[in-house]
Amino acid sequence: MYRPVWIRHASQLVTLAGGSSSPVVGEGMNELAIIEDGSVWLENGRIANVGTDAELEEIYRTRSEEADIIDATGRLVTPGLIDPHTHLVHAGTRENEFNMRLNGATYMEIMNNGGGIHATTAATQKASHEQLYLESKKRLDLFLLHGVTTVEAKSGYGLTLEDEIKQLEVAKQLDEEHPVDLVSTFMGAHAVPKKYRDNPDAFVDVVIQEMIPEVARRKLAVFNDVFCERGVFTPEQSRRILEAGVEHGLLPKIHADEIEPYEGAELAAEIGAVSADHLLRASDTGIERMAEAGVIAVLLPGTAFFLMAESANGRKMIDAGVAVAISTDCNPGSSPTVSMPLIMNLGCLKMGMTPAEVLTAATINAAHAIKRAHEIGSIEAGKLADITIFDVPDFMTLQYRYGVNHVHTVIKKGAVVVA
Ligand code: NIG
Ligand code: FE
Repeated sequence: MYRPVWIRHASQLVTLAGGSSSPVVGEGMNELAIIEDGSVWLENGRIANVGTDAELEEIYRTRSEEADIIDATGRLVTPGLIDPHTHLVHAGTRENEFNMRLNGATYMEIMNNGGGIHATTAATQKASHEQLYLESKKRLDLFLLHGVTTVEAKSGYGLTLEDEIKQLEVAKQLDEEHPVDLVSTFMGAHAVPKKYRDNPDAFVDVVIQEMIPEVARRKLAVFNDVFCERGVFTPEQSRRILEAGVEHGLLPKIHADEIEPYEGAELAAEIGAVSADHLLRASDTGIERMAEAGVIAVLLPGTAFFLMAESANGRKMIDAGVAVAISTDCNPGSSPTVSMPLIMNLGCLKMGMTPAEVLTAATINAAHAIKRAHEIGSIEAGKLADITIFDVPDFMTLQYRYGVNHVHTVIKKGAVVVA
């Protein structure tokens, strides 16, 4: 085990305490539980004590020699950031499509012409486990440098049982070997493979009868996700896939109402999905139902930005009582970024969220969106010692000085991993 770490004199220690039992909604998203001149003692990979520096000085004065001391004077200390929606494990890049889109092609046109998800699927199918591991590890290293200590990672570029399992096994190996923790989602229903184009229901059957049972049997995923979108999977097919997952213990998530309104938010509420993600075109009824059903909205403002579309209306969702989390959606087509700080900036600038709300969305609510809020997402005694220190004095400045990586130090399970 590592030596204890004592973080001292944070100008702002944002703890987010008090939101672990259920996702934070409404005005609560603006309440960060801030300690000035804050101090945290980390021991055995966990948070042992949190308070003002004067309070912790009383308790730990006699043990200060034992600890590595981090002076956080003038700095902001937050829980390690959490990214609850990524397509981390994939091969290759698609800058050619970016250029096509800049010249007027649309995302769905490119996909329907065999590019998009199909292009990355071809590259991922071809890649060896080792190659996929190395490409994905590079991205994960960058996530960490941007202050992220846990990511959700989806499959969905395999689209055959063997290749979906390859992706999930890479995620598993990264979880074991990399400081960043991974939480896996099976997303075999990410696109209809070309050979099923005339009979998509036959592919839905493969997902339900072959892929889901095997992924669940091997315990390779916690969640099951589907791209519910016109021209991809219908709400009815999505429902079947998500219900089949539930039967095998995989919790439902859904890519909903991303490009066109398609009643994805309504479906998420009806089946009790853990989260509905994207929601750029979610209906007012869908938003209301999500609030009633307690479905978390995982919003991805980087995707809207990169697709040059109007962002989801985060403001409206929060005001309607929906718990909002935010994420990069890191993927090679619609959001090739690893920067949660940038995503928080976009949350403020494009979704009408306050600096406090985006921080709640990137920490404790993100933890709820991946069912890990009992372990991460806030700085409270007993939780994992996952902490990010930013070289700005307060959470407001973190949003104000946008587009810059202000990360100074990252601590994962009590070990300093970025310094
Ligand atoms: O979340 N919408 C579907 N899936 C991804 C994009 C995947 C890709 O273009 O490769 C998303 O935006
Ligand atoms: Fe996605």
